[in-house]
Amino acid sequence: MAPDHTAVAHPNIALVKYWGKRDEKLVIPNVDSLSMTLDVFPTVTTVRVTPGEPTDTVTFDGATAEGEQRLRITEFLDLVRKTAGRPERATVDTRNAVPTGAGLASSASGFAALAVAAAAAYGLDLDPTALSRLARRGSASAARSIFGDFAILYARRGDAADADLNSYAEPVPVPDFDPALVIAVVNAGPKAVSSRTAMRRTVETSPLYWPWARAGTTDLADMRAALNRGDLDAVGEIAERNAFGMHATMLAARPAVRYLSPATVAVLDGVLRLRADGVPAYATMDAGPNVKVLCHPADAARVAATMGEAAPGCTVVIARRGPGAALRSGDG
Ligand code: PMV
Repeated sequence: MAPDHTAVAHPNIALVKYWGKRDEKLVIPNVDSLSMTLDVFPTVTTVRVTPGEPTDTVTFDGATAEGEQRLRITEFLDLVRKTAGRPERATVDTRNAVPTGAGLASSASGFAALAVAAAAAYGLDLDPTALSRLARRGSASAARSIFGDFAILYARRGDAADADLNSYAEPVPVPDFDPALVIAVVNAGPKAVSSRTAMRRTVETSPLYWPWARAGTTDLADMRAALNRGDLDAVGEIAERNAFGMHATMLAARPAVRYLSPATVAVLDGVLRLRADGVPAYATMDAGPNVKVLCHPADAARVAATMGEAAPGCTVVIARRGPGAALRSGDG
């Protein structure tokens, strides 16, 4: 029997967001994005090639995957097989510590772990840049989870004719900045509109999309400078304006995409109260109602308590910078 290859990856939260693709098939973003990989909510994925089996077997949190969930994984395996020149099917077992599809970046950790485990199982010797390109094909944000700490995903970098080669992630070294990111899970259920559908609709119909995307160039340059200075207030302000702008593009889509719920707004009010009380705290939200708040580690417990009071019943988790995707020792 072929050996198991197990990889672990963590989600990342973008401080300058990606929203909208210029190539849906190759999964190439319209804009560059910059994120922090977390030390919570890992995905653990095991891949084993199964010579002679007619189909892939995919288990997701212990249950057989079906429909769209299964298709995204088998199509990803097809890409790995094509790259490796090997036809064998595989078994995939993936376990998420985070609710799947709730805007908590489970697709980022999921496809980063799958890319690393499947590349190893099929004998592909890929460097981290190539792994980030591969992970991107599953979910663009997954490219960034190949790396720990801070990472940038380029929409287009370099002048290779091949768009796939030009879109990859790389680490952004930030030695002196180690903030906390406090996550309020106000609703762990799957989102009503997938990010894929929401993005397409936003790009096609929102008059605010391109102004936001263009403003992202400034946000990214300002963010890099703020990270280099270790300036939490500036990092937070830029992350907040970029995230609110992204949600504004969705609200202006036709029909509107609205991920923010009353509990989201209650937590955002809590963030304003913290700032009024002199606690630096800044919010960001992805394709879901959950709120992530950037703050100094020394303030994280107070921030978490305020968020918990603002949305009774929500789960609050304090995250820090986390590691890049890796094979479990002994594998490889
Ligand atoms: O990569 P996807 O399809 O999961 O899109 C996620 C996009 C956001 O989380 C909203 C922003 C980002 O850059 O992660």
